[in-house]
Amino acid sequence: MWFWNKKHTIAASGILQGAVDHHSHILPGVDDGVETMDEALRILATYEALGIKELWLTPHIMEDIPNSAEKLATRFDELKAAYSGNIQLHLAAEYMIDNHLRKLLNAREGDKTNKLRHSQCEGRWHEQSEVTEGSKTTNNCHSCVRGASEAEGDNNLLPIGTAGKHILVETSYYNSPMRMDETLQQIKSLGYFPLLAHPERYMYLDNTDYLKLHSQGVKFQLNLASLAGGYGKTVKKKAEWLLANGLYNIAGSDLHCEDTIEIITKCELREKVVEQVEKLLHDSI
Ligand SMILES: [Fe+2]
Repeated sequence: MWFWNKKHTIAASGILQGAVDHHSHILPGVDDGVETMDEALRILATYEALGIKELWLTPHIMEDIPNSAEKLATRFDELKAAYSGNIQLHLAAEYMIDNHLRKLLNAREGDKTNKLRHSQCEGRWHEQSEVTEGSKTTNNCHSCVRGASEAEGDNNLLPIGTAGKHILVETSYYNSPMRMDETLQQIKSLGYFPLLAHPERYMYLDNTDYLKLHSQGVKFQLNLASLAGGYGKTVKKKAEWLLANGLYNIAGSDLHCEDTIEIITKCELREKVVEQVEKLLHDSI
């Protein structure tokens, strides 16, 4: 029908009113995104004028940018102290599927295993393994300590979503990472859903792969600029296919600098697509 072909820009469509941006690099000075606090505050002011209600700050964490959760939380506190507007700000992270993420997951798994081993030991070995030196009692239970020794490094993950049940992940745009399935499975075994950032941007994934990942419980986040052709025609086509097949769960800007705001707000969408994108911008996970 002709009216499905009528187009609206994202800004004029009104779908940003009350919207949630689930992916951004606006936390300043921590990755390849926004560099200064001033730019971050200008972007937040523009976001508020556009009607955006909530924003997830999702800085990169990867081997080349090994941000710790503690460092990001400190910078997040600084942004919140400097910002006096009304947008609800949340901190999460975008994890590259690489050895750094596997180390974090292994550490978290070790922590979980230690607690499990301790509960399974039921105190039988634990009590016999307590050593008291002066006023200090140390537990040397082999069953529990073995788990603890496996937990190396920072095991604080920064999940995304109101229930804290999703881990936002990305990969190289061109090649499937080593042990991708194993890493996604490990995320699930720790009680999280993997949320794949901008699946439309990965050249090595085809429609069959998307359906397989979806059936495995992997959720998908749309980059709004993909629909605007911001990453080229192939990515735009893939985004339209994923959208038409109802495979996306949420949407985000993946904003790295002020200029991208205009690309997104001027993006023209057909009326039917406006409804689909509006839902993604107002759904939460
Ligand atoms: Fe990103």
